[in-house]
Amino acid sequence: MTLPPHLTVKEGHLHIGSHDTVALAKKYGTPLYVTDEQRIRANFMAYREALTGYYDRVQMLYAAKANGNLAVLRVFADMGAGADVFSAGELYLALVAGMRPEHLLFNGSSKTAEDLKLAVQKNVRVSLDSIDEMKQLNEIARAMGTTVECSFRVNPAMEVPTHPKIATGLATSKFGIPAGQIKEAYRAAVEASNIVPVGLHCHIGSQILDVAPFAKEAEVLVKVAKEVTDLGVTLRFLDMGGGLGIPYNHTTEAAPTPQEYADAVMPVFLDGIEKAGIKPAFWVEPGRNLMGDSTVLLTCVNSVKTTHKTFVNVDAGFNLLARPVMYDSYHEVIVANKAELAPAGRCTVTGPICETGDILAHDRDLPEVAPGDVIALLDTGAYGFSMSSQYNSRPRCAEIMVNGGMEAPMRRAETIIDLKMTMESLPWQK
Ligand code: LLP
Repeated sequence: MTLPPHLTVKEGHLHIGSHDTVALAKKYGTPLYVTDEQRIRANFMAYREALTGYYDRVQMLYAAKANGNLAVLRVFADMGAGADVFSAGELYLALVAGMRPEHLLFNGSSKTAEDLKLAVQKNVRVSLDSIDEMKQLNEIARAMGTTVECSFRVNPAMEVPTHPKIATGLATSKFGIPAGQIKEAYRAAVEASNIVPVGLHCHIGSQILDVAPFAKEAEVLVKVAKEVTDLGVTLRFLDMGGGLGIPYNHTTEAAPTPQEYADAVMPVFLDGIEKAGIKPAFWVEPGRNLMGDSTVLLTCVNSVKTTHKTFVNVDAGFNLLARPVMYDSYHEVIVANKAELAPAGRCTVTGPICETGDILAHDRDLPEVAPGDVIALLDTGAYGFSMSSQYNSRPRCAEIMVNGGMEAPMRRAETIIDLKMTMESLPWQK
């Protein structure tokens, strides 16, 4: 199994940055998410540099849903990123992290009136998902005596090679406005008293390991941009969404680099905007590609049982890492305190949740595993903690950030007392 440069094995232990994961597990307890800030920065720089090599008007909007910890958002804010925010909570945290309102885009197919009002109050542009939503936003801005800038999300009607649950640009998807209706949407926005359409948004799906669909998406985007420009709209940004995947299986999978993404997409984009006679900024909303490999989830072995196969029962389940159960996704497993030992048998790593499906990794060749061993699940920085729950009344675990020689918690673990903090005693049960 090949490891990215921030993950190394020294004296038999898996290290992240310069930190021994076994020592971190002992110090902070398990389960534990550990993220490497330097890796986030390197991923971000590689993505941005690939794009700015082609065009100087690039704005990176980190997809906050991938990992919404404030410390993570602050790293992106520090590097000049904005964010794709999908809820009032993500919008609030992005602003607290110091991101500039003009670098945020409030996305989503089902926003409340309160969401729209918040966007107007905070001067954050809104990506609209329907004409109905545009009319509501117009009324809200009118009542507040102001105007609001927006984009529409176009549905490109594209099939992409990924898990069906995360292919968002299919003609049948709930997201976006069909290309055939998009002119009508912009016309209606131009006529609306308090709406200023300034952008065009698209997102084809997530965990895509081929650049061709992104080139196709860029083609759709510039084609629609030309039609919208011909209506008299001045487009100030075209937003490609996110979606570039990462290799979760370190032996069999390969992912395109951001440079390969840029090489496929940017010539189509540049040619298209030139033909349309416009010079909009190029916006992109990566999440997984920036965060995914920055993080390991450390989990301790509670017990080992051999029946028809060997089960390694650990203290993290789909309450903390939902991806394997939700998308049959693969995460590499390393026994962090036996990282140099040869495989001794085939194991299935199972969580503590009361469901048969609570399996984090099927049939992996691991060294002999014993209670107390620390298992690391790799590539858990995107859609890991952010999709966690308190199912089975299990408190969520802590998150640690490492940065060079430094290390600090970026979220404390919840306790059992925390579980009841938001619950009320009923007056008739006192
Ligand atoms: N922009 C929009 C509008 C999105 O909906 C998404 C992801 C992104 C950007 C970021 O996509 P990325 O670069 O991370 O692929 N929970 C699933 C992934 C859901 C993605 C939802 N939208 C998973 O664990 O695979």
